[in-house]
Amino acid sequence: MTNRATRPLVMGNWKMNLDFVEALHLVQELGVVMHHSPLEHTDLVVVPPFVDLRTVCSVVESEQIPLGVGAQHVSQFESGAHTGEVSVSMLRRLGVSWVIVGHSERRTHYAMSDEVVTATLATVVGAGMNAVLCVGEDEERRQGGEYRSFVGAQLASALSGLSDVARSTVTVAYEPLWAIGTGVSASVEQIEEMGSFVRSTLDDLGATGSRILYGGSVTEENAGVIATIGTVDGFLVGGASLRASSFLAIGRACDDCYAGKR
Ligand code: PGA
Repeated sequence: MTNRATRPLVMGNWKMNLDFVEALHLVQELGVVMHHSPLEHTDLVVVPPFVDLRTVCSVVESEQIPLGVGAQHVSQFESGAHTGEVSVSMLRRLGVSWVIVGHSERRTHYAMSDEVVTATLATVVGAGMNAVLCVGEDEERRQGGEYRSFVGAQLASALSGLSDVARSTVTVAYEPLWAIGTGVSASVEQIEEMGSFVRSTLDDLGATGSRILYGGSVTEENAGVIATIGTVDGFLVGGASLRASSFLAIGRACDDCYAGKR
């Protein structure tokens, strides 16, 4: 990450954890530490459940906490008869500026197809919001050796609904499914390989300015080493984002690395 033009980004995906009271406590705790010792080079974003967003956006704004706020999912549609869904305009109105699109848990457990990922990404980018597109192979494809072609196809499909200019605004998170929530992250070599594969695929697809994140069992212990990998611009963090201390330690690892302190 050292000497890179791109500012690192660390996103905390809370998944289905923390109710709005717990969310308030966590964001206030993040705010206290960040006001006292701010991160200089790294953008931090929290991604709470939908029902916490209003509370989180309010406290971030009123206490001027240098944190972005994101949503874990959004509808591909603008409004109408879509029971259980939330639209980009509803999110924007709250002050949410980031959206995760196509997280593997949505793809696997909620039947989010490649087509829906493509449409959702186009909706998010079209609304002027920052999209984080998740891609990654499962254990079987990793073992079978088709992981590169699989991830390449996911990228090509998802970006097919966007112009070249719009493509470059998308952040891509490479998250191998076998590393998510398992406590075993991909190795430095594997992350390095897939980081440069994603970068060259994005170049071929005309998305030259995208940030590339790694996700899958990132912790305060391994973040420092992974952050030094030149092909990674930050992290998408699940479990370790639920505590202020570990989330901020991961942010600080990126900050130190970017500043050349590692
Ligand atoms: P994890 O989750 O850090 O708990 O492995 C990562 C993710 O799903 O984004």
